[in-house]
Amino acid sequence: MITKNFLSFGVLVSAIIGLTVASEEIQVSNITIGNPIITKWGTWGDWEYCANGKYVVGMQLKTEYYKGMFSDDTGLNGIKFYCDTIGSNDGADIITSKVGNWGDYHNEYICEGIATGFQLLSEKDLGWANDDTAASNMRLFCDGKTRQGDGETWGDWTEPQYCNPKFAICGIRTQVEDPNSDNTALNNIQVLCCKVPDPAEFCHPEDSWDMILECDNLESTSDTQCTYQRKIGTGHWNMMSESQSIMHEIYGNVGFSIPGALVSLPGNFDANLGFSSSTGYNWTQSSGEMWMEETTITVSLSVPPRIITRLYQTLGKCDFYTVRANKLKRVDTDERTLIQTITYIDI
Ligand SMILES: *[C@@H]1O[C@H](CO)[C@@H](O)[C@H](O)[C@H]1NC(C)=O
Ligand SMILES: *[C@@H]1O[C@H](CO)[C@@H](O)[C@H](O)[C@H]1NC(C)=O
Repeated sequence: MITKNFLSFGVLVSAIIGLTVASEEIQVSNITIGNPIITKWGTWGDWEYCANGKYVVGMQLKTEYYKGMFSDDTGLNGIKFYCDTIGSNDGADIITSKVGNWGDYHNEYICEGIATGFQLLSEKDLGWANDDTAASNMRLFCDGKTRQGDGETWGDWTEPQYCNPKFAICGIRTQVEDPNSDNTALNNIQVLCCKVPDPAEFCHPEDSWDMILECDNLESTSDTQCTYQRKIGTGHWNMMSESQSIMHEIYGNVGFSIPGALVSLPGNFDANLGFSSSTGYNWTQSSGEMWMEETTITVSLSVPPRIITRLYQTLGKCDFYTVRANKLKRVDTDERTLIQTITYIDI
């Protein structure tokens, strides 16, 4: 049975969906996005969701390839989404929703990070005398890249659909036509976009004294000047481990960046570090430039003869974020007496 749809209805639905997404800049709850409706034969399957804290990290498509001129083609029949935690893509958890009867699963497409959008290749209603197939392929967007599935080539790519920044795909349902006289199998996809936790909110802050300058004037009989690059503010740890830099990139692709971190980090340091016993720095009182993007200035320091000066800065760390605080410790060591003079400097 071939039911005719009015294209204008599909256009209207997608216009409304587009409007909702655009107006929800500060979105707090998970929302559903769907491809623009080109055909809408069949019934919707149940929603299937990734387990809590897991997101879609890959896909596998069930496709029936072209069968020849006088056969009833269906194209795309089903979608397997792999779910996993951020930074892991073993994808042991699988969600599918409704799946058509025809075709086979082919290649797996695995993301490095998590999926934040998709695009459907959809063939319009060809009229009652022709072989309709509805959806025939899809693309998944993850890591700022496109993973195009190995479906068929029929129809046109519909408008790509993206989760809002800081959200990622965590659920799916599919509209699939049950067997009849002109089978089309999968027609439409909706996905759920779930909030991704802000790493600046859940990272564990710690601090230490970070040596930023060693100025050796032991051999000299007069003052010497040492110049150095002094940083203050919030930035990225420049010696990330491999796993840290992968996580950093994944979160970056989902929309987390330093400007956003500046909102969450102060409260996190305040609540979870407070007065630090390792540096004696009171993060509760931190303010100003520290919670702005890191800036660098060139500074020169004068060191007396027979002295080696070491300069340390209070360095807050929270996973891949760093906060270079406004407190320095200058340690002057006298070569002959080995007496150390310690001075604290607020910058
Ligand atoms: C959104 O999705 C996440 C992850 O599945 C879940 O933990 C959370 O409860 C959901 N929030 C709402 C408001 O539905
Ligand atoms: C840190 O600063 C807060 C806010 O000014 C203050 O209430 C607290 O007593 C300080 N802690 C220490 C150990 O000085």
